[in-house]
Amino acid sequence: MEPQAASTNPVAWSRKHLLGLEDLSKAEITGILDTADSFLEVSSRSRKKVPTLQGRVVFNLFFENSTRTRTSFDLAAKRLSADTQDFSASVSSLSKGETFIDTARNIEAMGADVMVVRHPTPGAPHLLAQHVQSSIINAGDGAHEHPTQGLLDLMTIRRKKGKVEGLTVGIVGDISHSRVARSNIWGLLKLGARVILCGPPTLVPRSMERLGCEVAHHLDQILPQCDVVNVLRIQLERQQKALFPSIAEYSQLYGMTQERVRRGKDDLLVLAPGPINRGVELTPEVADGPNSAILDQVTNGLAVRMAVLYLLSGRMNARRSTTEEILGDMAATK
Ligand code: CP
Repeated sequence: MEPQAASTNPVAWSRKHLLGLEDLSKAEITGILDTADSFLEVSSRSRKKVPTLQGRVVFNLFFENSTRTRTSFDLAAKRLSADTQDFSASVSSLSKGETFIDTARNIEAMGADVMVVRHPTPGAPHLLAQHVQSSIINAGDGAHEHPTQGLLDLMTIRRKKGKVEGLTVGIVGDISHSRVARSNIWGLLKLGARVILCGPPTLVPRSMERLGCEVAHHLDQILPQCDVVNVLRIQLERQQKALFPSIAEYSQLYGMTQERVRRGKDDLLVLAPGPINRGVELTPEVADGPNSAILDQVTNGLAVRMAVLYLLSGRMNARRSTTEEILGDMAATK
């Protein structure tokens, strides 16, 4: 089901930073998703720019590799008419001993209004938020949170299914090492979904039930109940030791195959945050098949990141805080 028109309800937004979904209320999450629906319309037009962030400076500070998050934040800021600047840790003065905080304070001194931060250490964006005046957006901190990925997953589910409340969502794979899983869990539970975490016991600890989810270890048992499966990548880069016998055995037990899709609900929605490992977490037939919304997630990610930048700028400007104003900006540039 593709959704209705973007909401024009005012979005109450008073936060300076976006550090995670754990902190956000249901109303705040819904407000971001409504705003992102509006920005999807901007992306479908021949002139894709609005003047919302004219004169603002958005810095991308990525201390880990990225394809989707980095480029879509950059494009989102450009579509809002901000000046954008990439910071590459590998060619920076970090190699000469400059600290993370000093680096950020120097970037702030160049006039950064927003810093989009990805870092391998959980809590790194939160630390910066305590040391600089710029707005901080968490673009992934270790295995902690990846809030814009959680938001774009929620947006994709809401647009495809028309709702989130009451759905059963299976999150499959390497939950322990996944910031995507954590942001999904917080967002889905706040919006009223049932969440089942599924994977080998070494990657899905029973203790995660404390968050309000169910934990399962047999994909074939839970699959018939699922409206959505979100298939996570095995994150070997965050695993200190072998946590399952082999990739082949993992794929046999937890890989999303065409046969498994056939045994699920007819309208089973398959998500994957990317990058995907074809033949490991899911087969090429599933990744490219009719149940997959993997590329819709990427499209929606751009709209979500425009919405987040817009709402933070609303706070910076202390005047823009409703989707009606976005629609005004859009009308002005038609
Ligand atoms: N899903 C995601 O965060 O992808 P990147 O690592 O390419 O940004």
